[in-house]
Amino acid sequence: MKHLMSPLDFTTQELDRLFDLANDIETDPNKYAHICEGKILATCFYEPSTRTRLSFESAMIRLGGRVIGFSDAASSSAAKGESVSDTIRVISCYADICAMRHPKEGAPMVAAEKSQIPVINAGDGGHQHPTQTLTDLLTIRSLKGRLGDFTIGLCGDLKFGRTVHSLINALVRYDNIRFLFISPEELRVPDYITDMLRSKGISYSEVIRLEDVMPQLDLLYMTRVQKERFFNEEDYVRLKDFYILDTAKLALAREDMLVLHPLPRVNEISVEVDSDPRAAYFRQAQYGVYVRMALILTLLGLA
Ligand code: NCD
Repeated sequence: MKHLMSPLDFTTQELDRLFDLANDIETDPNKYAHICEGKILATCFYEPSTRTRLSFESAMIRLGGRVIGFSDAASSSAAKGESVSDTIRVISCYADICAMRHPKEGAPMVAAEKSQIPVINAGDGGHQHPTQTLTDLLTIRSLKGRLGDFTIGLCGDLKFGRTVHSLINALVRYDNIRFLFISPEELRVPDYITDMLRSKGISYSEVIRLEDVMPQLDLLYMTRVQKERFFNEEDYVRLKDFYILDTAKLALAREDMLVLHPLPRVNEISVEVDSDPRAAYFRQAQYGVYVRMALILTLLGLA
């Protein structure tokens, strides 16, 4: 049985198969509309979410399956003190596959060890968010036609942003990628990531001003300052509007650059940018459904 804890759980060949399947689902969704009839997905969300939970639910329903779950730890038995290990043992009796989001890093991994069904990490604290990474990679591959040979700027909260950490981990396996990390001093990418890049001889730079690097970018990955992971409100308020991508800044970018964002957006991209053809974040959300459909099929052995 296979779980998904990190994007590295799949080889790049397995990812290519997954993305081919996601593109086929995009082209011909009717072909897949009944494959999961009789199957149940459990979504166990101990932390807030809109996109990830609903895109999983939408994915399972579009495959003909059904969904059970909870969207708030307070309404689950966690509120009575039940451990994640016990919860997953019980969920294994009710469902065929489980997507779990948890504020504690590693909690979905603990669940996977005790689970009788595939467990998907739908975000664990500031650590990893593998299905967002699959979404990001599918978006890049579909819209750019390749994974590799590009300069990517990751901008915003690179310290707490789990989508950033997962994406960097996944991208280092492709050739000729240059990373530009754009953040305020306090929100720099963690040392374990820069250490990993140095040990692999992968090129990266850290800058503060977005405008300085904009013309070099093939991809700009914007992120929200992760309010919920700050220890004090004052620091959040000081940093939350550090970057605001507007049409004036976007005018410095290449014609074929893509702007990605895992969403939710707060202020970091002005709404005026949405109508620019380079704004790809809503298309990215759509790819999130296709890739989760492909993932469910793959982990259930139905692909
Ligand atoms: C992200 C997350 O939960 O880490 N959201 C998402 O799943 N698309 C990004 C964020 O919350 O900023």
